[in-house]
Amino acid sequence: MFGGSAFSPEQRAGVYEAIRKRRDARVFLPDPLPEEGLARLLHAAHHGPSVGYMQPWNFIVIRSAEVKTQIKALFLRARQVEAGDFTGERHNLYTSLKLEGIVEAPINLCVTCDPTRFGPVGLGHHFAPEAPFYSTCCAVQNLWLAARAEGIGVGWVSILEREELQRILQLPSPITPVAYLCLGYVPEFVQRPVLEEVGWAPRLPLAALVYEERWEGEQTEALRHALQHEVQTCGCQKGRANDATREKS
Ligand SMILES: Cc1cc2nc3c(=O)[nH]c(=O)nc-3n(C[C@H](O)[C@H](O)[C@H](O)COP(=O)(O)O)c2cc1C
Repeated sequence: MFGGSAFSPEQRAGVYEAIRKRRDARVFLPDPLPEEGLARLLHAAHHGPSVGYMQPWNFIVIRSAEVKTQIKALFLRARQVEAGDFTGERHNLYTSLKLEGIVEAPINLCVTCDPTRFGPVGLGHHFAPEAPFYSTCCAVQNLWLAARAEGIGVGWVSILEREELQRILQLPSPITPVAYLCLGYVPEFVQRPVLEEVGWAPRLPLAALVYEERWEGEQTEALRHALQHEVQTCGCQKGRANDATREKS
């Protein structure tokens, strides 16, 4: 048992459940989101950690069909360009994937970052000028997990040309769009990431990603066993029997 400030077992289970069962959503039901629910998600995002406590984020709530249609057109153009990065079967798989739910989702949300919120310098920025952007991603993840707990789907759409997005949303410099999200109720939260399910990429084995003391530093026996035990007992291995085959092919 870790320190005395730990949550109760039920509370902890809830946190881990939100983490494991969070999915990127691309299919949405038309049902509107209650404003109180949306407010809770925005509040969760606003409690994210931020470098120098600068809270560099803003949230642009998009409901209008007109704006969504413009963004969708942007997505279609960007997807066509990105599809050119792939050839053969990979290209076919890419073009068959549904990678957004912009028009169907009742709410679109652009989370922006103002890297100069408290002026040109800030605590923790000197050696990490990108830290405001990391902070904004932390806010997004808070929202994503809170949404899962609320039964609300969130899909992140990054296949958008940044300057065009800035123009459509009238973002002044240096406000940067970090995340364009689709939010709404969903028919289901699939068990595994869709990109894992269709064979785009496997979940990498955790043990291969953990080093000690230095890059590629070997794990201690104790950590190795603990990682193995955690992965085997967490319940998130279900349905992964085919992965070994897929990784080989
Ligand atoms: C920064 C970022 C950008 C993403 N952009 C897209 C996107 O444009 N389209 C899409 O379908 N999914 C996008 N995703 C979702 C990922 O595909 C998804 O998180 C990943 O496949 C794992 O699936 P899961 O979120 O359901 O666990 C993005 C995720 C992140 C973190």
